[in-house]
Amino acid sequence: MKPNNTLWHHAVIQREHRQQQNGHKSAVLWFTGLSGAGKSTLAHAVEEKLHHLGVRTYVLDGDNVRHGLCGDLGFSPTDRTENIRRIGEVAKLMVEAGVIVLTAFISPFRADRERVRGLMMHGDFLEIFCRCPLEVCETRDVKGLYKKARAGEVKEFTGISSPYEEPVAPELVVDTANLMLDECAEQVLALLRERGILRPAV
Ligand code: ADX
Repeated sequence: MKPNNTLWHHAVIQREHRQQQNGHKSAVLWFTGLSGAGKSTLAHAVEEKLHHLGVRTYVLDGDNVRHGLCGDLGFSPTDRTENIRRIGEVAKLMVEAGVIVLTAFISPFRADRERVRGLMMHGDFLEIFCRCPLEVCETRDVKGLYKKARAGEVKEFTGISSPYEEPVAPELVVDTANLMLDECAEQVLALLRERGILRPAV
């Protein structure tokens, strides 16, 4: 970290005030899993349900972030680590802003995910493992990237030529290979109620 001479300005309106106004707590729902496991689809489905319940949400996913904030990064281990670091910092700001942030990145490295967890207050980071076997993701191959990776046209592809480290103790494992989307989304909402992020009645 470079030295700087800035001071932290303490806001009068704090996270607690925003949460009170919103009627729910803020948190990060960190979806992780292989490409094609359904992270982004599930994050958007959960967001839709939350939005209809009057909850403030925002989805950060590869498509919006890798074009802008992380447009200078590729898929080497170093770049992926930096990708996740930046997203973690943005997510932390959004949590301060009172929002439920849903992130949908492969985030293949355990240490990177744990670093983000460490940035947050205890209980703010909910790791959700979208468990879907490589064979299923590869059969789906929505973006045609697995085929290209097998042909060697895409290098360092997660699951093929770059590792994916499964979470050891995620807050939730969702069986995205076998369950319907709505069922998966309901499991995430149940977790939020269980953790007191949403009120039980919401
Ligand atoms: S992460 O590893 O840094 O977390 P991120 O989620 O941002 O990855 O981006 C993954 C998406 O980028 C994939 O779903 C896929 O569409 C695309 N992609 C392009 N090249 C690669 C690659 N080498 N490995 C994985 N995903 C890739």
